Amino acid sequence: MPGASALSIIREEHAAVSALLRSLRLLAEKGPGEQRTRFFETARAMLFYLDEFPERRHHPNESSLLFPMLLRAAPDLQPVIEKLEADHAAGEHRVRELQHMLVGWEFLGEARRAGFVAALQEYVRLYLQHMQVEETHLLPQAARVLTPAQHAELDAAFAAARDPLAAGGREPIYEELFDRIVQQAPSPIGLGQG
Ligand SMILES: [Fe+2]
Ligand SMILES: [Fe+2]
Repeated sequence: MPGASALSIIREEHAAVSALLRSLRLLAEKGPGEQRTRFFETARAMLFYLDEFPERRHHPNESSLLFPMLLRAAPDLQPVIEKLEADHAAGEHRVRELQHMLVGWEFLGEARRAGFVAALQEYVRLYLQHMQVEETHLLPQAARVLTPAQHAELDAAFAAARDPLAAGGREPIYEELFDRIVQQAPSPIGLGQG
């Protein structure tokens, strides 16, 4: 969708990530059941997605553009932004750690199951909280205090780095990944039973 504003793209991407996180949590809590191969493939695809898009596109644009602009325009946001920035800095490591723990469950068995599920639940809780803080504390301020030139710069950066799952767009190389997630993951992101 050409011309979408950065602030609306951010909300859209949060909505897609939040649906994916809830779906992944549900999948993990239900466990593999009879469909072991499919379960691990789907969970792996979902963690890979989190690492590939939010970590590499959404967060860097927030950290390198939105946060510094807001800090200059509204210095009272500093404590909030520092906390969000710390979340971004830790995010990549945390999602990699989850990928490792999932493979541990897959190859080493049930002894690794509870650890993965607990770590995922905590990850999802913190991630949802992070996005909520951005939406309540940063985005309304951004709409008020940033200049038209700053908005234009943000719009261009977020439009260039859109998350194809959120945008409903087609990037051919990701089609297989998204098909797998949509066909196999449970609601709210997918059509599967989980
Ligand atoms: Fe963020
Ligand atoms: Fe965000």
